Amino acid sequence: MNKQQIILKTADFVKDKFSGESTGHDWWHMYRVWQLAKTIAKDEPTADVFVVEIAALLHDIADWKFHDGDEEAGPKAARQWLEQQKVDEAIIVNIEDIIRTVSFKGAGVKNNMKTIEGKIIHDADKIDAVGAIGIARAFAYGGANHRPIYDPEQKPTMHTDFEAYKNGVSHTINHFYEKLLLLKDRMYTKKGKAIAQQRHDFMEQYLAQFYNEWDGQR
Ligand code: ADP
Ligand code: NI
Repeated sequence: MNKQQIILKTADFVKDKFSGESTGHDWWHMYRVWQLAKTIAKDEPTADVFVVEIAALLHDIADWKFHDGDEEAGPKAARQWLEQQKVDEAIIVNIEDIIRTVSFKGAGVKNNMKTIEGKIIHDADKIDAVGAIGIARAFAYGGANHRPIYDPEQKPTMHTDFEAYKNGVSHTINHFYEKLLLLKDRMYTKKGKAIAQQRHDFMEQYLAQFYNEWDGQR
């Protein structure tokens, strides 16, 4: 199998596994991250585009949030799939590490992406959490987890460790302050920064309108 065939086969595998998912982690998230990652990679000539495409498709293959907090579930599932496709060991190791490090773990917890491919996947994944789509995903996640949309009496928490972030229970507007509005300053790539900034501005506008409506101002 050539690289293009492996990419398409991986896309089919992920599509089958995630279609119909409703918490914001559906096939279309993988699809958007895949497309965004390719867009960002165009400005990063040293990136291995095969690694970028495969890692984008597999980055949420077994998220800790849905595997009792097991952070190794994703890397393990990716390795199993890639070994079946006879992908080189060095590439598998890079992809495993990208999946292990890409997940957001709290306002005060840094992602430590080591390779340019990892930086691209990080930026593409986080960009899909902001802007119009990010807002839709946040409320979808909140609904699926029985969280209220907003409660003015419950203020945001800046989590300084993963455990606290994982165990936090709050309304969805707080998620904007605990994560979504922080993402533009966590971008690694120039292109990622530019896209994130534009979507960030849209979220600020959305929140201003939200608070106006909340208090029946207009
Ligand atoms: P990442 O891919 O950055 O690790 P997650 O898997 O944590 O992101 O989140 C997937 C989607 O669900 C994102 O759009 C994210 O903003 C949203 N989400 C995660 N946690 C919450 C939450 N507590 N409230 C609302 N949305 C959330
Ligand atoms: Ni993701």
